[in-house]
Amino acid sequence: MASPGIPAATLIDRARDVARHSYSPSSHFPVGAALISDTGEIITGCNVENAAYGEAICAERNAVTTMIAQAAGQTIAAIAIVGLKAAPCWPCGACRQVLREFNCQKVIVEGEGGEPATLAFSDLLPHSFGPEALGS
Ligand code: THU
Repeated sequence: MASPGIPAATLIDRARDVARHSYSPSSHFPVGAALISDTGEIITGCNVENAAYGEAICAERNAVTTMIAQAAGQTIAAIAIVGLKAAPCWPCGACRQVLREFNCQKVIVEGEGGEPATLAFSDLLPHSFGPEALGS
């Protein structure tokens, strides 16, 4: 389970669905992400690239910014990531740091055979820097 009542496979399916909206004319590497917040909302995002290559935004960060825009204060119970051309599709370093900011607990990727694999977030970004380090 990604979180109570939500199977990991459901989040993977939502991530695959939104990956089909990807705007990736530079890389031709569509990615989708589906997160479930601590309040039970499922929120999705896909990667959006740009002719100025450095302005590409990853699927995970698009999902996170939408989560905050919908309701401030939410945290991330789990996030599933699907790359239509690669399994597993691991979150990049920048996305791991952004997921860390919002207390992500689990990351779900597709195994090579397509089965969901669920990892503890702390295994993907150990000894991480987070907002509590800044104090008040
Ligand atoms: N990408 C993501 O959307 N998420 C990741 O964590 C890895 C990379 C996107 C960025 C870019 O549009 C494409 O995949 C190729 O790097």
